[in-house]
Amino acid sequence: MPQVAVIGAQWGDEAKGKIVHFLAREAELAVRFNGGPNAGHTVQDAYGTVQLHLVPAGALQPGCAGVIAHGVVVDPQVLEEELDEIRRQGRPEPVVYLSDRASLILPHHRLVEELEGTARRIGTTRRGIGPAYQDRVARRGLRLGDLARPELVLEYLTELEADLKGRYGKAGFVPKQLADRLARFYAAWKERIVDSRAVVARALAEGQLVIFEGAQGTLLDLDLGTYPYVTSSTTTVHGIGWGVGVRLSEGARVIGVSKAYTTRVGEGPFPTEDTGEGGELLRRKGREYGATTGRPRRCGWLDLVALRYAHEVNSFTELAITKLDVLSGLDEIPVCTAYDLEGKSVEEFPKTIAELSVARPRYVRLPGWKEDIRKARCPSDLPREARSYIAFVEEVLGVPVTMAGVGPGEDELIILR
Ligand code: GDP
Ligand code: IMO
Ligand code: MG
Repeated sequence: MPQVAVIGAQWGDEAKGKIVHFLAREAELAVRFNGGPNAGHTVQDAYGTVQLHLVPAGALQPGCAGVIAHGVVVDPQVLEEELDEIRRQGRPEPVVYLSDRASLILPHHRLVEELEGTARRIGTTRRGIGPAYQDRVARRGLRLGDLARPELVLEYLTELEADLKGRYGKAGFVPKQLADRLARFYAAWKERIVDSRAVVARALAEGQLVIFEGAQGTLLDLDLGTYPYVTSSTTTVHGIGWGVGVRLSEGARVIGVSKAYTTRVGEGPFPTEDTGEGGELLRRKGREYGATTGRPRRCGWLDLVALRYAHEVNSFTELAITKLDVLSGLDEIPVCTAYDLEGKSVEEFPKTIAELSVARPRYVRLPGWKEDIRKARCPSDLPREARSYIAFVEEVLGVPVTMAGVGPGEDELIILR
């Protein structure tokens, strides 16, 4: 089975980065297919801790190259800063390919996001993601491949500046300066700006292990998530076709990553949110502050209604349950198995934001465990209650849980089966 998709099963930050980094020890390619620098994928290993926004987490493993496919919106400045940080940590230089069809994030995208109020209304990561995808869909964006023609880039930026000044009174960049910066970026990268679809297709044809690294999570998917409180890309397994132009084969592993509880950053409904002591405890023990923005994440309990929906959308072949260690010490752990919707118990994830906003969680309370489990490395090291917690998720969802995270470190992972 030479393909693996790692997909966020919640509202992002499920520890996809850690899972991808682990699996990439054996892989030849790690491919980002959606999102952009709104992602913050953490890897903690012998070199230290790094938050990756664009570089695929798998590309930190020697022998695994990274591909940033056409579904990704690329901010050249973020990419270069990220590589500087990787070098500063003394890591081997990652090999990263960029799609010539990928759209660029330019400085005005962040400006437009602020001025149009999207940043505040949705609680975005303020990375210009929405406006960059808007330009792409409107067929007026600049793509990486366009950088091969500097005279056209300057012309494009000059017209864009005039247009932005007319609309907003400012543009946020000086055309000549930005054109020069993009030219320098292109000169440094041109060997690595490629037809990424062909690169991935070739690797698949040769039977190489390819990991598709999802960004964000299923409930943030533009269409299938909690619209309008979503991101602007296809975050599910279906984003692979959309964002890379290859098809995941029948036998591929589709790994849904879920925390042992739930978090969300930004606005939008979150039925199992705990705004009291429980949520505070999860935030403190789980260090739930955004990797990209530093914002405190909203915290609450595991929501199996939402997770079942994520499974329905992605057809996970397995689940990775991360941050199980954060639940240690609780007497009992609430797990949501149904919602109360206008007096009725529903097990199906509501399809409208109006319904989801008034859905109240119905909890079962599973027994907790007192032991610190961060040193656990095999299933039998886990307390019985922790194993039962995982077994409960498997039973309700009908999907095997194959991995459990017990700490942020690369070795703090248990392979369950
Ligand atoms: P991603 O966006 O899905 O890659 O997830 P993030 O990196 O944004 O957030 C996950 C956070 O949890 C990071 O700070 C990780 O270092 C940390 N982490 C990952 N796995 C575990 C785990 O099993 N236990 C604990 N306590 N922390 C974890
Ligand atoms: P990773 O890959 C968590 C959220 C933002 C906001 C909404 C839209 O690290 O899991 P955007 O900037 O994309 O227009 O913001 O989506 N969001 C994320 N939340 N993890 C992420 O990525 C996210 N990327 C975007 O907080 O609610
Ligand atoms: Mg993250």
